[in-house]
Amino acid sequence: MTLPKRVVLVGPMGAGKSTIGRMLAKELGYRFLDSDRIIEERCGANIPWIFDVEGEDGFRQRESAMLRELSEASCTVLATGGGAVMRRENHEFLKKDAVVVYLRTSLEQQVERTRKDRNRPLLQNDNPEAVLRNLFAVRDPIYTELADIVMFTDRKSPRLVVRQLVNRL
Ligand code: S3P
Repeated sequence: MTLPKRVVLVGPMGAGKSTIGRMLAKELGYRFLDSDRIIEERCGANIPWIFDVEGEDGFRQRESAMLRELSEASCTVLATGGGAVMRRENHEFLKKDAVVVYLRTSLEQQVERTRKDRNRPLLQNDNPEAVLRNLFAVRDPIYTELADIVMFTDRKSPRLVVRQLVNRL
């Protein structure tokens, strides 16, 4: 089996990109990268702070720069933020030398997995479910268009998703 240089995970908040990414990287003997966490480390602040001080635009600029930089990193599994696909300029960085995997997840699962979360500024409002629904309507076609593999994650353990993914790479 010839492995791709990179595996890039895209999908909505609560899709399990970080959990599955970490396990997949271990399975492949690749390095795991999480773009949101690296942005936070570099900035010395968490994502809510970045949104507060720099606005969503400021965060998106940092995200694009990060995706560009990480597109050069071989033998890696990259977990991206849910909005990483929204800037067209990012698509080139996401696809470079990569198999792009869309972790497709129902709205119910997204809601369930992001409940009580305080680190996602877009969901800090009265109706996070409506936000997730609207984002999904806009983003699902973009994730699908970009992906080489669409993997359904509902009612599957992360271990099963990883096993199925390894077979499809
Ligand atoms: C966002 C998703 C988050 C993070 C930021 C914005 C989005 O990442 O990048 O809060 O626009 O969907 P996760 O998908 O890892 O939660």
